[in-house]
Amino acid sequence: MNIRSVQAARLVLPLLLICPTLTSAQELKPIQLLEPQIDSGRPLMQVLKDRKSSRAFSTEGLPMQVLSNMLWAGFGVNRPESGKRTAPSAMNWQEIDIFVATADGLYLFDAKAHTLKPVLAEDIRAMTGLQPFVQEAPVNLIYVADFSRMGTATDDQKVFYSAAATGFISQNVYLYCASEGLATVVRGLIDRPALEKVMRLRPDQRVTLAQSVGYPRK
Ligand SMILES: Cc1cc2nc3c(=O)[nH]c(=O)nc-3n(C[C@H](O)[C@H](O)[C@H](O)COP(=O)(O)O)c2cc1C
Repeated sequence: MNIRSVQAARLVLPLLLICPTLTSAQELKPIQLLEPQIDSGRPLMQVLKDRKSSRAFSTEGLPMQVLSNMLWAGFGVNRPESGKRTAPSAMNWQEIDIFVATADGLYLFDAKAHTLKPVLAEDIRAMTGLQPFVQEAPVNLIYVADFSRMGTATDDQKVFYSAAATGFISQNVYLYCASEGLATVVRGLIDRPALEKVMRLRPDQRVTLAQSVGYPRK
């Protein structure tokens, strides 16, 4: 080891000790989600009556079955023969990815495999919005448009259609939450450049909205 590398190690080692959260996705394991319970849930009209935004969350985590059901309701595959989903998308582009930010780290929902793929072993919940409750909610969904899937759409169309697609998914999540007595709020108040950077998104991926989910604070 030469003098330069010794000096570099002196700088980096304390940083690693101070910042144990600077870890890669390799330390997170993929999560196989549970089969969605499609016979569960309250009648649609009652759920619509109860749908609302809530901003006070308990820090209690979501059980795996609840998380699995919610992601499937949001944008899961409901017709395996065609790969189509619980929410519509223009030209069936399916351009919205759902990232799931938890205390353990950041995951990507893979709807086809019904799994969560590790992205970052870091708690980025506080970065998902500009309101204080976002760091308390056990789950923050981050909706990301992948413009590379949107064929020959113009830039305006990419923004418009991906925003619309996000709305359908978000409303599915709202309805599932209303059915299950969960608190949720969809959010546009986000420092997008900062969040996109920490998520290491490509330039043709854009954060559209985020949505906090958890049990209501008592
Ligand atoms: C596109 C969009 C962006 C929103 N952004 C935020 C937000 O950043 N923070 C927040 O607390 N609520 C946000 N909301 C929630 C609205 O404030 C809420 O839906 C509205 O007040 C109506 O309340 P309700 O959902 O209970 O009917 C947003 C809603 C939409 C549709």
